[in-house]
Amino acid sequence: MPSSRLVGPSGLLLALLPLTASAVSYSYSLQDTYAGSNFYDGFNFFTDSDPTHGFVQYVDQATAISSGILGYGTGNTAKWGVDDTTVLYANSTGRQSVRLEGKVNYNHGLFLADIKHMPGSICGVWPAFWTLGDSTWPAHGELDIIEGVNMASTNQIAAHTAPNCTMKFQNQTGWANGYDCAVSTGGAAGCATGSNDQTGYGDGFNSNGGGVYAMQWTSEFMKVWFFPRNAIPASISSGSPSPALDFGTPVGNFDGGSCDIDSHFINHRMIFDTTFCGDWAGSVYSSTSCPLASSGSSGCVNYVAGNPSAFTDAYWEVNYIKVFSETVVADPTSSSSSSSSSSMTSTSSSSSSSSSTSSSSSSSATRSSSSSLTSSSSTTSSSSISTSSSSSARSSSTSSSSSIKPSTSSSSSSSSSIRSTSSSTSSSTKTSTSTTSTHFNLFNNQELDLFNLETHNLFLLHKIIDKYQTHNYKHIEQIFQQNHFIFVIDQENIFDFFVDA
Ligand SMILES: *[C@@H]1O[C@H](CO)[C@@H](O)[C@H](O)[C@H]1NC(C)=O
Ligand SMILES: *[C@@H]1O[C@H](CO)[C@@H](O)[C@H](O)[C@H]1NC(C)=O
Ligand SMILES: *[C@@H]1O[C@H](CO)[C@@H](O)[C@H](O)[C@H]1NC(C)=O
Repeated sequence: MPSSRLVGPSGLLLALLPLTASAVSYSYSLQDTYAGSNFYDGFNFFTDSDPTHGFVQYVDQATAISSGILGYGTGNTAKWGVDDTTVLYANSTGRQSVRLEGKVNYNHGLFLADIKHMPGSICGVWPAFWTLGDSTWPAHGELDIIEGVNMASTNQIAAHTAPNCTMKFQNQTGWANGYDCAVSTGGAAGCATGSNDQTGYGDGFNSNGGGVYAMQWTSEFMKVWFFPRNAIPASISSGSPSPALDFGTPVGNFDGGSCDIDSHFINHRMIFDTTFCGDWAGSVYSSTSCPLASSGSSGCVNYVAGNPSAFTDAYWEVNYIKVFSETVVADPTSSSSSSSSSSMTSTSSSSSSSSSTSSSSSSSATRSSSSSLTSSSSTTSSSSISTSSSSSARSSSTSSSSSIKPSTSSSSSSSSSIRSTSSSTSSSTKTSTSTTSTHFNLFNNQELDLFNLETHNLFLLHKIIDKYQTHNYKHIEQIFQQNHFIFVIDQENIFDFFVDA
């Protein structure tokens, strides 16, 4: 895990840190507009396999156009969706879709996304609009501005960072679920917030004509607002957005904790993607009321493969993205030094193909962040680990943990289950019953933190899989057995861990 000692993007910005909230204000001037016939020029088309293990085939621009899934809508909006005509085999790569990654990396600024339509609240679908740092995840941070899975009706906003970054989520309208954004200590779920406003996501967003998502990023904080179509602030409509003037209280206020924003969020590019099933939508599928839900993630894949017409509404339609550069102005009533200006630093990102390697393995953890494996409370010698949503935003629609049968393929006679930390019985000396972490040394330097298994969940699993460059789960099972672990994955992608007593 990368250390928190990162070099800031600019000495000037770091020098400004001592200025307090009351001492500065921010003004913005337009830097980049992504709209109309130039919209797609601002993005690379990511075509690697999905870092989040979705049932998806990301295609390049030419393929997307010829497949009829990318183009323009009424009013010259950028409009792109997914293949909604082809019946697929479940053993195929997946449904054709598009993942756009911005060509410019930003530090600070005001980001406005005027979105007319986003993928609806559709079983199997997992859309996201987010920003991602340019280093190995999560060293330079990630901010998920729009994200949800399956039939979700509300949005979740989350951050994932290097160590030593907590938020207080005060002075915001949204709920909070997790305050520690650091993957290493807060788990892969990150720090998350969101609104119960159904006009902010999926079907409710679309039927209301969408709206504007705004993200303000300064040295002090990152704030996210959502304005429904009929409540867009005048300063945005007039083209001179001013958060302090008329944005009001944000949904999410990433502020107030230990986090030094400038060392945790660096060189972010914007990403739009629509995937299917995979680390989040697939892992919680069994707890939805979607078709084939009882078959879990394989049911998700079968549903997505066999029902193309279900995904006609899984499209994005964007009026514009505008990025404004920041000027920091000292408050004249303050006795602090005179105004200093720090305009946004932009660096051109490398091509998507060259950056995709690091971002693929890195963001696999990212997208898996919101589902968790929780150890069951079973006291039998072999207990299973079930997937469940760790997100309170999701809990309304996917409230119950999926019930998973114990693995049948392992010889469990000598196995004792890994217990949750609340477990009072110790299956071995390695089982922790306190809040201190218990580490199990796996292979070489790999450590599996059992206490944090609940939150690290799929992130750890994919670290293990990535390490062995394989999806051959039998192979992994053997490795675990050699290390006195038995790891089992069944046909429904359900993960069981056992400690060999
Ligand atoms: C995929 O599944 C189809 C239908 O079951 C089967 O005919 C085909 O051989 C499979 N392809 C591969 C590569 O396994
Ligand atoms: C929330 O608002 C109060 C009152 O204005 C202020 O004192 C406090 O610093 C704010 N907290 C954050 C994290 O912005
Ligand atoms: C964590 O961040 C805070 C605020 O930037 C800083 O004061 C503190 O020294 C950091 N702690 C560690 C262990 O890096």
